[in-house]
Amino acid sequence: MKTLILRIDPKKPQPRIIRKAATLLQQGELVAFPTETVYGLGANALSPKAIRKIFKAKGRPSDNPLIVHIADKKQLRQLVDPIPPAASKLIKKLWPGPLTIILKKSPIIPDEICAGLNTVAVRLPDNRVARALIRAAGFPLAAPSANISGKPSPTCASHVSADLEGRISCIIDGGSTHVGLESTVIDLTAASPTILRPGKISPSEIGKVIGNVRLHRVVKSDKKIIAARSPGMKYRHYAPKAELRIFQGDTIKIKSKIQNIIRHSPAKKIAVFVTNRNHRFQGAENVYIGSSSKSIAKNLFRVLREMDDRKIELILIESVSEKGLGLAVMNRLKKAAGFNIVRVR
Ligand code: TXA
Ligand code: MG
Repeated sequence: MKTLILRIDPKKPQPRIIRKAATLLQQGELVAFPTETVYGLGANALSPKAIRKIFKAKGRPSDNPLIVHIADKKQLRQLVDPIPPAASKLIKKLWPGPLTIILKKSPIIPDEICAGLNTVAVRLPDNRVARALIRAAGFPLAAPSANISGKPSPTCASHVSADLEGRISCIIDGGSTHVGLESTVIDLTAASPTILRPGKISPSEIGKVIGNVRLHRVVKSDKKIIAARSPGMKYRHYAPKAELRIFQGDTIKIKSKIQNIIRHSPAKKIAVFVTNRNHRFQGAENVYIGSSSKSIAKNLFRVLREMDDRKIELILIESVSEKGLGLAVMNRLKKAAGFNIVRVR
């Protein structure tokens, strides 16, 4: 299959390009498009046949449910039942934005989307291209991140091409995504509101709107937890080909430990992810990944992909603070590392 690549102005999406991509979606095809978090791989959310194509193109296990993307708040009504007060409050304050809400599904949602669960995840992205596309298509879009299953989510169109060119009909290139990590996922069907995946919208931001919110134990865990509530939690994710090791503890001791490992490791190509441009380790590639959790979030998936391209064998990184967006950054890093965490005291 030839993949059509359409460049678009992210600030003023050209209607002609949106129409072209929407037509492909109406024909049951797959179209990758930018959102504010990562690129999504879209298909008609109301067509089981189109949805099955997503699982095939990504190599995604069929028991991992998809997020349904809408263009306007009023589109939610047909997809879920009921809309509890906590959902209304979150929607009013935080949509459009990188927050996915899990609610009881309505009968209109095909089983293929929610992997047999009676719930559905919905999100209203804060991105002009995404919303223009959903509006033009005339139906909500099921859209997981537009990567091959297990790889880091794509934060620009070239990442999508690298994984899916030849397997999907179209990629809309709207430049780099803003946030860089996937949306926060909150389950409002649990006994109390529970965050299943941390993202840019932090637990405290959510807490301010609906009061109590808890973190699912997998969010803060330093171990792999298999029997997880969100099926997606149990799959290997974001892993680079290199071994990735995270160091936690005393910063000064970590520095000498890392330098020591570089000196004695049999690995020929080692990278150290640094958050300060002045930190340099001898005998390794020093890869600056940003200094704030915001900039690290934006860069992380791109840098992980580059490590594969550069045939790095070992990646070393000191953990960052789990405050604010740092919680989401550490969540992705721990998964990428397969929970390979070294405590340095
Ligand atoms: O930012 C994002 O959310 C991006 C962009 C494209 O919108 N999408 C994304 O989709 O990250 P995906 O499929 O890569 O991740 C969806 C996550 C998975 O971990 C999945 O298991 C979970 O949401 N999920 C979806 N529906 C669910 C449900 N009904 N119950 C529990 N978890 C659900
Ligand atoms: Mg994904």
